[in-house]
Parts: sequence; C-alpha cells; structure tokens
Amino acid sequence: MSRMQGNGSASGNAPRAVMTSEEKFLRVKRELHEQLIAGMDLAVIGTMNEEELRMEVRRAAEELTRLSSDLLNLSERERLVNEVIDETFGLGPLEPLLRDPTITDIMVNGPKVVYIERRGRLEPVDIAFHDDRHLLQIIQRIVGRIGRRVDETSPMVDARLPDGSRVNAIIPPLALDGALLSIRRFGARPLLVSDLMAYKAITPEMVEFISACVKSRVNIIISGGTGSGKTTLMNALSAFIPRDERVATIEDAAELRLQQRHVVRMETRPPNIEGTGEVTARDLVRNALRMRPDRIIVGECRGPEALDMLQAMNTGHEGSMTTIHANDTRDSLSRLEMMAGMAGFDLPIWIIRRQIASAIQIVIQVARLLGGIRKVVKVSEIIGMEGEVISMHDLFGFKQTGVDARQVPQGYFFATGIRPQCMDRLETSGNGLPTTLFERRILGS
Ligand SMILES: Nc1ncnc2c1ncn2[C@@H]1O[C@H](COP(=O)(O)OP(=O)(O)OP(=O)(O)O)[C@@H](O)[C@H]1O
Ligand SMILES: [Mg+2]
Repeated sequence: MSRMQGNGSASGNAPRAVMTSEEKFLRVKRELHEQLIAGMDLAVIGTMNEEELRMEVRRAAEELTRLSSDLLNLSERERLVNEVIDETFGLGPLEPLLRDPTITDIMVNGPKVVYIERRGRLEPVDIAFHDDRHLLQIIQRIVGRIGRRVDETSPMVDARLPDGSRVNAIIPPLALDGALLSIRRFGARPLLVSDLMAYKAITPEMVEFISACVKSRVNIIISGGTGSGKTTLMNALSAFIPRDERVATIEDAAELRLQQRHVVRMETRPPNIEGTGEVTARDLVRNALRMRPDRIIVGECRGPEALDMLQAMNTGHEGSMTTIHANDTRDSLSRLEMMAGMAGFDLPIWIIRRQIASAIQIVIQVARLLGGIRKVVKVSEIIGMEGEVISMHDLFGFKQTGVDARQVPQGYFFATGIRPQCMDRLETSGNGLPTTLFERRILGS
C-alpha cells in the first residue's frame, strides 16, 4: 500500500521520521480493529443489525481518537468507521470494489497485487491486504458462507457471493505466490441482445437468424474461450424462448438470469470434506429429464453430462442450449466427442459423432479479442455426416483486418452466401426468413 501523502518535501533517501497521514490513519485503524475485537462481545455483535453495528464502531472510534493524539477529521473518521466495519464483518479491501457496478472481474494475485476488469479492460488497482493471513481470512469468510473451508486438504474452492458473483480461490502451496482469488461479478443488469448489437458484438442479421433458430427449437451450442462471453450470449438469447415453455437450467454456479417465468433452476454440488454428497451435472441432466421440461439449458458442458445432453436433445428436448470451452466451432465438436466418451460406455466414435450430428444444428463461436472486445466470430451449421466425419458449413463470420492506433481490433462481419439447411424447419415453425439474409456480403455496410 503506497498511498503516501504529504511527503513532497522529503528529499533524496533521507529517512522520514514523521509518519504520513496515511500511515497514521492505518495505525489508528489497526488499533481500533484490535480494540473492537478484544472489547466487544461477539455474541452480541451477531445480534446487531448493520445500523447498530456502525453506531457501536463509531462510538469506539470516537473514544479511540479522543484518547490518541492523532487528530482525524470528520471524513477520515467516517472512512475509518467504514473500513473497520468492512474488515471486521465484510470482505475487507474487496468491499469498495464490490460496490462499484462497473467492475466485472476482480483478480487477487497474492495479498499485494489486485487487478480488475472494467469495460473489457484489465487494470491494476491500488488496494492491498495487510499480509497473507489477512487475505486468507477474507477467503475463509467468503467460502465459510456456503459451509466450506480452504485448507491444505482442500486448497481449491468454488463459492459464490450473496449477489451471485462467482468466486474461485486457490491457496499455497498450489498457488505459488500467495493465495489467488478470482471473482466474476454480476453486473447490475445482464446484457441484452440489444446491448450486444450496440457493442457491435453481433449484427442484426445474425440476431435475426439465431432468434428464429431459438424460437424454432433448434439445438444450439455456444463455443468460446475463457471469459469470451459465452454465458452472456446464452443468457441474452434465452429471451427468444417463448414465455409459456418450461425451461430447466443446470449449472455449476447459478449465473444465468433467464427472463422466462417458467424456469426451474438446478445447481451441482461438489463433494463435502469427507468426499461424499457430490451431485454432478450428469445427475442433474438425468433428473431434469423426469421433470418434463420443454428445453434443457446446461450452463457449461465440461464432462460426461455431454452424452446425456445429446440424448436429451435427440429425444424431444429440442431447443436446448449449452456452452463449451473451445477455440473454433469445429473444435467444439471434438471437445463434445471427447466429453461424451467420458461417460464410459465404450461407445464407438461413429456412434457418438452421429449423436452429435443429429442433436446439434447450430454452433456459435464467440471470442475475446485484443483489448477485451467480445464478438461473435462465427456461426456454423451442422448438416449431417459424410462418412465418419461431421459436415459443417459457416453461415456468418467476423474477419479481423488489423488494429487501430489504440490497439482496438478492426474488421467486418460477413455472410458467407450459404443458405442454411434449417431454413425449411424455420419456415414450418412459422419463423421463415428471406434467403436474401444469407447473401454473400459484408454486413452492416
Ligand atoms: N459483448 C460483450 N461486450 C462487453 N462485455 C461482455 C460481452 N460479453 C460478455 N461480456 C463481459 O465479459 C465477461 C465474461 O463474460 P461471460 O461470463 O459471459 O464469459 P464466459 O465465456 O461464459 O466465461 P467463462 O469461461 O468464465 O464461463 C463478463 O463480465 C461479461 O459481462
Ligand atoms: Mg460462462
């Protein structure tokens, strides 16, 4: 923490005998914190509401500042009270970041290095934890809320904050330079398709096509790298699901915020400390099938649940969606193949491929480009099998041509000129589209 103030006159490397006001502030804060913990009855604190608590801390702060020779002004005293409350009962230095709605990710790399992402850009922030112990304490507080602990026997945990933000923590010795904490925030409001169009992440033509697919119950996969916007796009596209349908969602950490009324949400559960009680995505997909959903949405497909999902998509739960971690639409099919193979039935590869080819019609690739810009970079259609290979063609794409002076990627969206095979299906379900939509051209020009 190096927010030194008032040292303008300190020249060269001469030792500074006088404390800066920031150092003084930190000392008073530490004292108040210690006093508070020593002098307060924790059982009583537990029964206080936030307002009473603040009054109590303020009273103690006033007492302390009256006794000490360090004069704190009113705004410093206010800051002192807020920070001590955050330290004692909240998430310490993370609190101001969590209150800032423009921050989408918080990354803590050990006690002294913290980064945030804001509007797609990573930036370091000037906050720090006192030391390793302090950071660990905050991590325990986060995961403690969901009844878990991080320690040597379980050094990695996933958890959530009360507002739904997704948290991952990993501690030494697995993390080499102090504990690592990653928080994926939820913005105040999920991005809508109209926002994605305004950000030029997708074009109206692509939206016209994809929305017709969603309405016509075409099965869709969204593929992309870490943090590329898969979940965001899936959430936005869910708006096209008719209101009267029953949708079952399955996630590892509930992130989706579907706008339909008839949504039943399920979340997987990791094993407890004794290693029992795990509920996998696979268990939940199977359970969902008995719940008579019209569609199943699996937040992220990353294991053997792929097979159950393919079977569900092939047996009456059309209009289902999931996301897959892959670098290209074709790559996502190999990933799916591999994951379905993990189900352990020793199925021959051609059977799995055939399942994939008949279950899935559209694969949408999203990418995080330089500078944090997210775009739909490809929309592909699966058209069947050719021998043992799944055939696929591209309908839309994004071509990056370079970067501008500020390193912002430049390029254009285009239609490939291929008429989708699912046009007839769209037509029969009342969502027919003009063939001109797919004419080969640069879009938006
Ligand atoms: N088109 C977009 N423009 C700007 N920000 C976006 C866009 N799409 C997503 N984001 C932001 O990017 C971050 C990552 O998005 P999201 O969680 O959807 O990615 P993901 O691919 O599902 O990530 P993960 O691999 O962790 O599951 C979020 O903070 C989200 O708000
Ligand atoms: Mg995601």
